[in-house]
Amino acid sequence: MSQIEIRSHPKFYNVFISGPLEKLKLYTKNAVIGKKIYGEKLINHRGTEYREWDPYRSKIAALILGNPITNFLTEKIKCLYLGASSGTSISHLSDIIDSGIIYGVEFAERSIRQLIQNTSNRTNIIPILGDARFPEDYAKYIFTDIDLIYQDVAQPHQAEIALSNCNYYLKNNGVLIIAIKSQSIDSIQKSEQIYKQEKKILEKAGYSIIESINIHKYAANHIVLVVKKST
Ligand SMILES: C[S@@+](CC[C@H](N)C(=O)[O-])C[C@H]1O[C@@H](n2cnc3c(N)ncnc32)[C@H](O)[C@@H]1O
Repeated sequence: MSQIEIRSHPKFYNVFISGPLEKLKLYTKNAVIGKKIYGEKLINHRGTEYREWDPYRSKIAALILGNPITNFLTEKIKCLYLGASSGTSISHLSDIIDSGIIYGVEFAERSIRQLIQNTSNRTNIIPILGDARFPEDYAKYIFTDIDLIYQDVAQPHQAEIALSNCNYYLKNNGVLIIAIKSQSIDSIQKSEQIYKQEKKILEKAGYSIIESINIHKYAANHIVLVVKKST
């Protein structure tokens, strides 16, 4: 039995915390008891198994620690996750979203194989082998409206990729969360300049940047933007 006192996050649905504000740790309730995805700590607290959510491994965890105003998690959310990799962050979203669904798009065959292995007993994840640059190619696998698009693809043209997916799938009033890695866009230009340029592309297409959270503390040269379609 652990000595850690785990409590509910004051804002985010099904996210749990421990420790003082300046050294907060994040957790989700493990939907598959006993199973780790990326070597994370499992903690049994008052009969519930939690998985520690590492902000150095997951930009969504880093975003939550950055204390965004927008509450983008609900129990029923339908999420399109671009750049699902082997399942680190998507598995925590799967713990959180108990009656929603997450479509996880990944183009690297090795990663999607690991994703399938890691998440085969999680019924709310649909892994899709696809290229996020071509959203129409995976339309046949996506059979619901999308409330949230999360993108972490570490590629050039990150804003354009997000836009093409938003225009194709995101419902009105839906939210886009995009992790921008400046080094993948241009390794010579200053990060701040690249962030500005990506924001401009989104705004020009009719989207509003609601929040811009710097997560350099956890992921070098990254910010996370919370974006909505302007009405
Ligand atoms: C930084 S990793 C994502 C980590 C993941 N979001 C997490 O937190 O667990 C970026 C992933 O995006 C994938 N990726 C890059 N470009 C892509 C594209 N055009 N379509 C689909 N996946 C892509 C890469 O193969 C890689 O697995």
